[in-house]
Amino acid sequence: VVEVDDIPTPALAPGQARVRIVAAAVNFPDVLVVAGEYQIKVPPPFVPGSEFAGVVEAVADDVQRLVAGDRVTGTGIVGAFAEEAVVAAQTLQPVPSGVDLRLAAAFGVAHRTAYHVLRSVADVREGDEVVVLGAGGGVGLAAVRLATVLGATVTAVASSSRKLEVAAAHGATHVIDHSTTDLRQALREALPDGADVVVDPVGGQLSEPALRSLHWGGRFVTVGFASGEIPRIPLNLVLLKGVQILGFQFIDFVMHRPDEFARNEQELAALLEQRRIDPHVGATFTLDEVVAALELVATGQAVGKVVIDLSR
Ligand SMILES: NC(=O)c1ccc[n+]([C@@H]2O[C@H](COP(=O)([O-])OP(=O)(O)OC[C@H]3O[C@@H](n4cnc5c(N)ncnc54)[C@H](OP(=O)(O)O)[C@@H]3O)[C@@H](O)[C@H]2O)c1
Repeated sequence: VVEVDDIPTPALAPGQARVRIVAAAVNFPDVLVVAGEYQIKVPPPFVPGSEFAGVVEAVADDVQRLVAGDRVTGTGIVGAFAEEAVVAAQTLQPVPSGVDLRLAAAFGVAHRTAYHVLRSVADVREGDEVVVLGAGGGVGLAAVRLATVLGATVTAVASSSRKLEVAAAHGATHVIDHSTTDLRQALREALPDGADVVVDPVGGQLSEPALRSLHWGGRFVTVGFASGEIPRIPLNLVLLKGVQILGFQFIDFVMHRPDEFARNEQELAALLEQRRIDPHVGATFTLDEVVAALELVATGQAVGKVVIDLSR
């Protein structure tokens, strides 16, 4: 049950900052957290929402790196679908000047996930053929754009022509509607020499045909299971095709590969500043409409990012 209510803003503790939230992005894990199905359980009641952008209103006496008026983004497990958040100041990141706070909110989790996956896990190189599942969703659409920025050719897979139009506008060369075509056959036709990389944030029935589209030595990266179904891949396929199946989980990547994480984050910030990436906001809601926003994401209908705009 999600409802909108007035609650007191917590007092500032040492090391914390209070942020007036201007926009929050809805990510699929928010749906899982609300449903109690995320790997990290949060005892209710809590304020959902894992990603926001806003303006610092006040900092605790011991905080040096931020001042009131700074434009920042923040991510966490909960707390973003609110007018204010009180968080550890060190978790806040500056928003480059000139970047709209709604775009800054829409950019973070999806693009950072996609970029770490492509750059470090899949090691995408110029000229690679990359297949992206869920290509109309937050992570998928970011992967489409960022793979093209890395010089790859992208095949976008999604369930509607609207999503695929947007994926094509973000750089996909081939588009496949898996709701109307046989995915395995369509991938064979689109990529006769096979794919180098598959990025899979969906799972379920799509994963195996996508893995079959790889040529010998290709890389398959599992990022999530938005379909609600964890696929079982026959290992004979892995043996026969000589492919690698790799996994990505944000928190673990930060912990185990801190240097690459830092490098990728710098590269991504530069791409945003240079406007080489342009997050697609498919729907915008007010805070009062937060339930509708969560439902849009929960049912897989969102195109690009869903944003809650608190400036309206
Ligand atoms: N590993 C990590 O660190 C990490 C980080 C961020 C997100 N994730 C995960 O990545 C996945 C995608 O996140 P997202 O923010 O991109 O989600 P999203 O915007 O909602 O997109 C998910 C896509 O999954 C497909 N889908 C199929 N069945 C669905 C269903 N029953 N409900 C919802 N979507 C369904 C849809 O594509 P079709 O058009 O093909 O139906 C949809 O566009 C989630 O599982 C999320 O938890 C993982």
